[in-house]
Amino acid sequence: MLEQQAPDSLPRIQRLDETVVNRIAAGEVIQRPFNAVKELLENSIDAGSTLVQIIARDGGNKLLQIIDNGCGIRFDDMPIVCERFTTSKLAAFTDLRSLNTHGFRGEALASISHVAHVSIVSKTAEAECAYRGEYFEGKLKAPVKYVPGNQGTTITAEDLFFNVPIRRRTLKSATEEFKKIVEVVSLYSLHYPRVGMSVRKAGSDGLTALKTPADSTVAANIRLMVGAEAADALIHVNHEDKRLEFSLDAYVTGPSFAGRKTQLVLFINHRLVESARLRRAMESAFTEALPRGAQPFAYVSLQIAPHNVDVNVHPTKHEVFFLHQDAIADAIQSRIVAALAAGRQSMTFLVQSVLPSNKQEQQQQQQKQSPVPRAAASQQLSQSASSSQSVIRSRVEPGVTNIEAFFGPAQKRPKLGADSGEAPDEDNNADGEPRQSANSTAANSASIVIDEGADCVRQSPTQTSVQLVGSSHSAAIAAPSPGQHRRVMRLQCVFRMQRSVEAQADAELCAQFRKLVFVGCIDRRLALAQCDCDLLLLNMQLLSEKYFYQVMCRDFGNFEVLALSEPAPVRRLLTALLSSPAYRTLAGPDCSTAGAEQLIERFLTVLQSRSMMLLDYFSMEIDSDGNVLSLPLLLKKFQPDLDYLGVYLLRLATKVDWNTESACFETFCRETAKFYALKAPFPGAAAPEPGAEDDAAPHSTQASQASTARRDPIERSVELALFPSMRAQFKPDTDCRNSRAMGKLVSLQDMYRVFERC
Ligand SMILES: Nc1ncnc2c1ncn2[C@@H]1O[C@H](COP(=O)(O)OP(=O)(O)OP(=O)(O)O)[C@@H](O)[C@H]1O
Ligand SMILES: [Mg+2]
Repeated sequence: MLEQQAPDSLPRIQRLDETVVNRIAAGEVIQRPFNAVKELLENSIDAGSTLVQIIARDGGNKLLQIIDNGCGIRFDDMPIVCERFTTSKLAAFTDLRSLNTHGFRGEALASISHVAHVSIVSKTAEAECAYRGEYFEGKLKAPVKYVPGNQGTTITAEDLFFNVPIRRRTLKSATEEFKKIVEVVSLYSLHYPRVGMSVRKAGSDGLTALKTPADSTVAANIRLMVGAEAADALIHVNHEDKRLEFSLDAYVTGPSFAGRKTQLVLFINHRLVESARLRRAMESAFTEALPRGAQPFAYVSLQIAPHNVDVNVHPTKHEVFFLHQDAIADAIQSRIVAALAAGRQSMTFLVQSVLPSNKQEQQQQQQKQSPVPRAAASQQLSQSASSSQSVIRSRVEPGVTNIEAFFGPAQKRPKLGADSGEAPDEDNNADGEPRQSANSTAANSASIVIDEGADCVRQSPTQTSVQLVGSSHSAAIAAPSPGQHRRVMRLQCVFRMQRSVEAQADAELCAQFRKLVFVGCIDRRLALAQCDCDLLLLNMQLLSEKYFYQVMCRDFGNFEVLALSEPAPVRRLLTALLSSPAYRTLAGPDCSTAGAEQLIERFLTVLQSRSMMLLDYFSMEIDSDGNVLSLPLLLKKFQPDLDYLGVYLLRLATKVDWNTESACFETFCRETAKFYALKAPFPGAAAPEPGAEDDAAPHSTQASQASTARRDPIERSVELALFPSMRAQFKPDTDCRNSRAMGKLVSLQDMYRVFERC
């Protein structure tokens, strides 16, 4: 039993000092720098801004600045703007029911000013001049001064948590904090595509970590933030429920996209919130309607009648309560399931057949076979009914069947990864060890395995490791998260290269390419694809080289990093290469006169002397010891054949015109595209090692050949990464037509005629 203390020794209950109260309150609202950014960004949006810039130093700890072009703060309001409970957005408690702003408590600026030094420069449209106030603990430190400035508001918070050291110690590293800031802004940019937003580190010379244009769209911003694959797979879901008084506007990726983890971005009444109930509903919808293991991306905006929502639930406002939660969640779940199912069905289309047949019978057949919702089916049927020809079903999704399904035992379909890893995952053996491919030159053969880190909305780095076999080299690809560091290149010669790609595109071939359905690889250079009723033979060597050149032009200065975790020594690679007569000619006429060693040093100097430029524009790093540390990553889930790394370096040293800027960029891009392009295996390179399952399952020679081809990691990544990407974005030019790079082999109609005769 506790000893009874003398009444005098008991601590007295006292009123807390107001500054302590304010600091505790502030600590609830602003827990980390990104909370401050969220509050300030919401204020800018509430102020009707169309452009908002955010600058952070030291992850926002040293400095956070947010500049907007909104309505500004009135001069008379400047003295009280940072006091607690002062707001222009709410007058009476009942106003909460019809709130159309993020802010309503008059708490955020006060909180920030209790844990940081705040200054505000603002100007309204009516004011003749801007004015500046400096604040601490809610109060002006000195009278407001007139200063030059444009309409809008700039709020600066310095030394965040300087007076709350415990909170400071709990913060993550500056990099982590900055990432969170970028993440929160990118999520808001999805919801407010009309507002252009940018985030950069202070002193980063205009280099932005995130930049979205004003007047963008949700889909365009998803493309920017999450990537082209997600954007290409988006299904837009719109729904209004009068009874439950809510409307839904969502963008969800369909079955053709799979990320590294399911990402759900939820806004309720324009607030970025978490909702465990809605998350469960969405996840159930995905499980029901998407292939197993799919990891979709979903942006969901819910508008619930304000009188059914309580927004005043949490100090950081990251939660809201709303009525009819279960009913709304169920309704959303079924809408998403229906939309995903319809999306999947819309990937099956009807084409005309030359076979004479009973139209009605076929329509009935279609109706029986197709699980399409009745409305969609009848729409399809009415389309086909208007056609004078009968219809047949044409396969448009390689997942339905592809040529490999006809050979040997079924092979496990790889689990799709958001950023990288799909094809390379396949290269792991059963133990998860990277499969090794043999080396032909001294030290340059590679197999690849993906090991990805955790994901937020594409902010965390992607880890990919590459093992160089035949030597002790192993490597890791550390690609910065996609979409986050896109900088705008203003180089005229790059514009010219981009324009020339556009100008040379053949519209008809482009349209044809969008319709292609992958059938299978014949070898590393040739593939079969179906276009409507035609079977085409694709010269993938030529087409992929053109495509990678287009990628080089498009992503110039924005490449992710394919970083070798073990340096690849240029000298050794070139020495091995130049010992072969076939490659000595590449080295030029000097090769016979100058000694190989001298020549290699010369080549190395050529590359090293441009190392800054190579790193900056092409993410290619060469260290002072003459090792290649990283290469540009042109396409996730696809790796170039690293057997050719030595050839690539030799060609860079000898074929790139390093003297003039435009020629240098163009030839560098062409050589890199050549390196990435599909090609026959490097002479002397051993075939990929057979997998365990093949040893166990005996099958015919033909089947085992096909099976061997199937195991080629490069061919697998053609199917899983390169072809889908090309199908979505490649712009074939007239040269592709002239060189018959997409030649028709046979048409389905002709084959039917043959079968009929039989
Ligand atoms: N960027 C801005 N542009 C124009 N006015 C602003 C801006 N930031 C703040 N204000 C003004 O300052 C007031 C106080 O902002 P503060 O964020 O502290 O409170 P709030 O937005 O009203 O409510 P909450 O605490 O819920 O965010 C706002 O009501 C608004 O009038
Ligand atoms: Mg606010």
